[in-house]
Amino acid sequence: MTTANPVMKQPAGHERTEEEKLLRYRVGQRIVHAVLATSFLMLLFTGLMILWQPLTQWARDGLSGTIHRIGAVLFMLVPILYLVVDRRGAKELLVESFTYDKDDIEWFKHAGRYFLGRAVGMPPQGRLNAGQKLHHAGVVIASATVVFSGLFLWFGKGNLGPNGLALAASIHGISMLALTVLLVGHLYFTFVYKALSAMTTGYVSKEDAAIEHPKWVEKIEHQQVGSD
Ligand code: HEM
Repeated sequence: MTTANPVMKQPAGHERTEEEKLLRYRVGQRIVHAVLATSFLMLLFTGLMILWQPLTQWARDGLSGTIHRIGAVLFMLVPILYLVVDRRGAKELLVESFTYDKDDIEWFKHAGRYFLGRAVGMPPQGRLNAGQKLHHAGVVIASATVVFSGLFLWFGKGNLGPNGLALAASIHGISMLALTVLLVGHLYFTFVYKALSAMTTGYVSKEDAAIEHPKWVEKIEHQQVGSD
């Protein structure tokens, strides 16, 4: 996501028909998100093939185990890739996901309304709304636990003992379940609020952003005035 130097796409010439757009995610951020989403789905489907009886027939010849490990390496590379391609974006994501103000607390109190697709009149939000902050914080925490337990299962199997092995497997499974529940919510809000363009073109409608993230839009306009 972006805050400093965000690009505003103005209507071409004097045409007033084209919608005004705001840049929400830079190209590097979109690439990082694509790697995150792809590697997570690789892990989820191959993990289910390895563990879930109705799908184990597809886990033949160890292929799903190999794909699972490739997905794991990609998944672990995501934070490094983010720091390399867009250090500022990575920092903003991490800091903002764990920083909540009064408006965020108010937002949570009205979250039911937002859940039903009614963003108008919600407490004012910045670049991330409180629900997005919670989602992203959950992704960071559950990703850390899935990675560490996975590394124990991958490299420490021989030394863990039956109890250690059971503990690592439980943490791994619960973390993956949490990430899957978070993904279901993430997809629900992406489609209810028609937010997909933020991750495909990078742009969102300014009109929608002014309803869902008024403090963010205000900040961008302030920066625009400052740079004029
Ligand atoms: C598979 C389909 C997915 C779709 C369609 C999707 C869609 C999106 C969209 C539209 C946004 C931007 C929302 C906004 O701020 O306006 C976003 C951001 C984000 N998504 Fe996803 N997502 C997907 C998978 C995932 C997965 C699997 C994860 C985590 C495991 C994830 C984690 C995130 C995070 C952390 C952000 C914020 C990115 C940043 O600030 O750099 N997404 N996603």
